Amino acid sequence: MAHHEALPVFADVDTGVDDAMALVYLIASSDAELVGVASTGGNVDVDQVCRNNLGLLELCRAGDIPVSRGAEQPLADTMRTAEDTHGPAGLGYAELPAHDRKLTSYDSAEAWVRAAHAHPGELIGLVTGPLTNLALAARAEPELPSLLRRLAIMGGSFDYRGNTTPVSEWNISVDPEAAAEVFAVWGRAAESKAIEPHQLPTVCGLNLTENIALTPAILSRLANAAEASSVAMSVLDARGTRSVADNPLIRALEDAMRFYFEFHFDQGEGYLAHLHDPLAAAVALDPGIVATRATTVDVELTGTLTRGMTIADWSRRWGREPNAHIGVDVDPAAFFDRFIERVGPFARRLVHS
Ligand code: BDR
Ligand code: CA
Repeated sequence: MAHHEALPVFADVDTGVDDAMALVYLIASSDAELVGVASTGGNVDVDQVCRNNLGLLELCRAGDIPVSRGAEQPLADTMRTAEDTHGPAGLGYAELPAHDRKLTSYDSAEAWVRAAHAHPGELIGLVTGPLTNLALAARAEPELPSLLRRLAIMGGSFDYRGNTTPVSEWNISVDPEAAAEVFAVWGRAAESKAIEPHQLPTVCGLNLTENIALTPAILSRLANAAEASSVAMSVLDARGTRSVADNPLIRALEDAMRFYFEFHFDQGEGYLAHLHDPLAAAVALDPGIVATRATTVDVELTGTLTRGMTIADWSRRWGREPNAHIGVDVDPAAFFDRFIERVGPFARRLVHS
């Protein structure tokens, strides 16, 4: 339950296994109040993202948090989805509870603008999917950068390989035009002094988020912190083995993570999973948990091999003002401690209260 100094947070997600973990983290965090969820197509199509978001709120017994539906297509490309990574419905092997929650009558771009106007100068923005809706929101409300207290984005890959093409990361790759537009809009706001430097987006790229490797052992710590009966997962388990945890939230997270472990294993990365989006959520609430460098970022839109690549101008050859804070270092153990100390007791309270 959020206490009275809780900071309002608006999350734009393409749920997705790790987006789900990020949403649970936000809901479990007493220093945050989740005031809206924007659904963006990406990992799965936008309607499935909406279903996942509504079902997750039900699973967490969250209050009446508005969930909106986002654009069906990226600004210029045709939508692509990633069921191979996240499962046919986006949440691996997890099943969500039935409910009668409804979507808002307005779309995700308008949801951004409404949330920003409801909490001017206070709202923390988080994007863990393609940036389509945020770009559309900034078109509709040019003051958006100054209305936000700060903004955290999971996207890009800085001086590091991609996960979608050799050089591009998924969220940017799905809608490179939207990403380029967001960096340009925030950059112009900074140049015109409409925003302070701390209002520039903090960008968590793969170079940062791939440090956050969840393993079965860490997942067992989460189940223990929730006082849930649970059996540690193993690479030797049959594929798709279902969780027997007696806590419904832990069970769903384990069933979702199992699929994500299997996907990473098949990629040759080991029986583990990168928690990209939960790290960005933690950064949204506390930017100090990562080391960052301010720089100018732009997105390749026309390369024959490099479309969707994020480029950071570390040596200021472009002569442009910084438009982002790029995450460059993180302490994974500190992140996991924080994740477990928030989500574990929250999951326990769901069944013992
Ligand atoms: C990003 O892509 C998605 O598959 C994940 O949810 C994360 O937001 C990582 O590249
Ligand atoms: Ca995501």
